[in-house]
Amino acid sequence: MNLSTFYKQIMDSGILCPLQDKRVLIIGDGHQVCMPDGMNLVTEEIHMGQYVLANGGVPDIYELSTVVNESRFAPIPTMLTGKYQGIIVVSGLEKEENPVVSLQMLLDILDAGGFLFCVTRTPKFNYIRNSLSEYEDLWRFTAEEFKQILGEESIKVFIEEPAGHYMAIMAEHIVGCSAVDCPLFSYRTETRLSVDDLRTKGFFADCRELDKIGSTFNTDKNRFYHNYLPKYEFFLAPFRHKNFNLLELGIFKGGSAKMWEKYFPNAQIHCVDIDENCKSVADDRIIVHIRDLGIKENVEQLRSIKPSVIVDDASHMWSHQLLALFTLYECLPSGGVYILEDLETSLNERLYPGMDGGCRHNVYDVLSRIAKVVGSKELETDVDELSATISNIGLKTEMFSLMKGSCVLIRK
Ligand SMILES: C[S@@+](CC[C@H](N)C(=O)[O-])C[C@H]1O[C@@H](n2cnc3c(N)ncnc32)[C@H](O)[C@@H]1O
Repeated sequence: MNLSTFYKQIMDSGILCPLQDKRVLIIGDGHQVCMPDGMNLVTEEIHMGQYVLANGGVPDIYELSTVVNESRFAPIPTMLTGKYQGIIVVSGLEKEENPVVSLQMLLDILDAGGFLFCVTRTPKFNYIRNSLSEYEDLWRFTAEEFKQILGEESIKVFIEEPAGHYMAIMAEHIVGCSAVDCPLFSYRTETRLSVDDLRTKGFFADCRELDKIGSTFNTDKNRFYHNYLPKYEFFLAPFRHKNFNLLELGIFKGGSAKMWEKYFPNAQIHCVDIDENCKSVADDRIIVHIRDLGIKENVEQLRSIKPSVIVDDASHMWSHQLLALFTLYECLPSGGVYILEDLETSLNERLYPGMDGGCRHNVYDVLSRIAKVVGSKELETDVDELSATISNIGLKTEMFSLMKGSCVLIRK
C-alpha cells in the first residue's frame, strides 16, 4: 500500500470527522515525499483540507518548518489570530530537530479539547534509504512514542497502513497536559535516542548556524529539503566575518540570498537569475543581476565581480552548470570555494529528464574526471575536447569534496 492509499483509508475510516467544520491548521508539504509511482502528496494535502473543511472556511497551510522550527516559532502569535480547534500534520515531524518541543508548540496553539492529527513514517519505512531522494529524516515514530509524548489518555485513534510504513494518530488536547520528553527512534542510528544524544552525533553536528538561518528564510538547501547547509558551513565558516563577494547563480524567492546576507555580515551577495521578479530581493548588500546563464557572454561578465565563493543553484542543466564552472572557476582567488548543487540532474534521467541542454557530457562525469586528476596527481591525457579544461581545473584544486547531491571544490 502506498501513501495515497493510506490517505484513502484514513478518509474512509472517518477519523477526521471530529475536525469537520472546525478551524484547522494544516501543516506539511506533500512534495517532500515523492512516491515511487510518481504519486505526490500535495494532492492528498489538498484533499485533506477539502475533506476536513468541506463546510468550513479556508484552511491555513504552513510547512511544519515554518511553524515549529525553533528559530521560527517567534512569529507564530502574530501570524495566528486565534487558537485552532484542530491541527493536521501531513508531513515533517520526522525532520524536526526536537519533535517533543515541536508537538508542545502545536499544543500551545490548539484549543483545549481540540484534536491533533499526525501522519508519520514508522521505523519500517525505508523507501528514502533505498532511493536517491535528497530528503533527510531524523526520526521515525510509533504509536508508543506518541503515547509517551502526548499521554496515553489523549490518543483517541491510532491507525497503521497494512505494511506498517506509515501511521496516523488522532490525539485530543486534554487541559493541563503538555508534551513529555522521551527517547525517540533515530532514523540515522536505528536506535532509540534522546534528542540531545542525536544532536551531539555526526561530524557536522556543530555546524548548525547556517542551517538555522537557511530554515528561517526557507531556502531549499535547509535540512527539511536538501540538507546541504551543515556541510557548507564546514567549508564557509572561515569567511564568516570577512569582507568578500559571494556569487550565487539562481535566486528564486531570495531564500538563500537572505541567508548568505545574514550569515556573512560583511559580505556583498551578488545573485543572478533570469527572472525579472527577482529584482525585489535586492537591498544594501544583495546585488541582483538579471541574466540568462545559458549565454556565454553573460557568464563571462560575472568574472568582474571577483567572487571568493561561488554557488551554482540555477537551472541545473548540464550545459549551464559546465559553462559556469569552466568560465568562473578560474576567477576564484586562492582559497576560494566553488559549490555545484543538485548533481542528481546528471544522474537520474527518470526524475530529471531533458537536463542536458544539448551537452553530451553530464556534470557528474566531468566532476568525476576532475576528481580523478586531483586524486591521481596526473593530468588527463587527450580523452576528448574537455581534457585540457578538466586537467586545468584539477591542477588548481586543493580539495574536491562530494556530498549527497552537491559538491565543493576549493581553489589552490
Ligand atoms: C533552485 S532556484 C534557486 C534557489 C535559491 N538559490 C535558494 O536556495 O533559495 C533556481 C533559480 O534559477 C533560475 N534560472 C533558471 N534558469 C535560469 C537561467 N537560464 N539563467 C538564470 N537563472 C535561471 C530560476 O529562475 C530559479 O529562480
